[in-house]
Amino acid sequence: MNALFSLAASAVQHLTGAKLGSFWSKAALILSESADATSGATVAADATSGATAAAVAVSPFLNAIEYTIVVPLLYFSVLFCIVGIIWRLYKILGAPPAPYSLKIYPSSKSPGLGALKDTFAMPQLRRHKPLFWVFLVIFHISLIMLLLGHLDILPSISIVPESSRHMVGAGLVGVGVTVPLLYFLFRRFRTPVRELSVPADYLLLILILFLFLFGDLMSWGNSWTPNGFVMTKQDFSLYFQGLAQFTFADPRAVLPGSHYHFLVIHVLLADLFFIVLPFSKILHAFLSYPINLLRRK
Ligand code: HEM
Repeated sequence: MNALFSLAASAVQHLTGAKLGSFWSKAALILSESADATSGATVAADATSGATAAAVAVSPFLNAIEYTIVVPLLYFSVLFCIVGIIWRLYKILGAPPAPYSLKIYPSSKSPGLGALKDTFAMPQLRRHKPLFWVFLVIFHISLIMLLLGHLDILPSISIVPESSRHMVGAGLVGVGVTVPLLYFLFRRFRTPVRELSVPADYLLLILILFLFLFGDLMSWGNSWTPNGFVMTKQDFSLYFQGLAQFTFADPRAVLPGSHYHFLVIHVLLADLFFIVLPFSKILHAFLSYPINLLRRK
């Protein structure tokens, strides 16, 4: 098996040197490194498992894909999200005013305060759909805690003691976002919301659900299982520190073990989430107050 890898590597190197230039030379180098890697400890395993050799061969490619997801793509998606939000808000707020009045009655003596109350307390929803209101309140409070929980992973921020392996809320924040999200998803399957829903509504909720579930997997593992998730908050903090300092270091160096792939999937879903955010209904977070103000003025 080892000989086969060396042969494949030198064949690619030979061909690429002549014809295809440096990209393929690098690929050949990766292949030949893989072949070298099989020559030691893996040789014994090679005899018993063909899968091991295949894994060694694909691992440099997998590493490159995973690195792209957790570092450059994450920077790109966050930047895309910020620029996208600014652009969308610029377009929406710069559009001509609606030809009809959005005003609701009774009019408020203090429109600013009235709009604030409408935005954060949602009194009409509380009156007409109390269960939906309860889930919305739990969800939004948990989202703020979730943001704090992620920031707390940075070594410079210490809401939960550095030595603790728990996120803020010790796993309960994950419950606080995931259970309401399941409710939001299932209510879309019932009349009359079903008739008003488009595929994008379901897709967005499903994307966020899986994003939450992969985060939960790590956080609930760390908080609610005797041995934790293998990777702890302190391990994740080295990755977050690298991101915050733009070192472009490969997090694999500080996050060894197969559980790393769960983090990669979580971050891939976060990347997608950041990219779709400016074009999705989540933009209401920025528009809710201005619209309520229009209604109250
Ligand atoms: C910016 C990229 C992100 C990274 C690198 C990241 C990383 C992590 C890590 C390492 C954990 C587990 C921490 C621990 O157990 O100590 C986690 C948990 C979690 N993440 Fe993320 N995350 C990211 C973005 C997001 C986004 C955008 C969302 C959703 C909007 C999200 C939702 C969650 C949830 C729900 C949990 C579990 C929280 C809990 O149970 O308390 N993450 N994340």
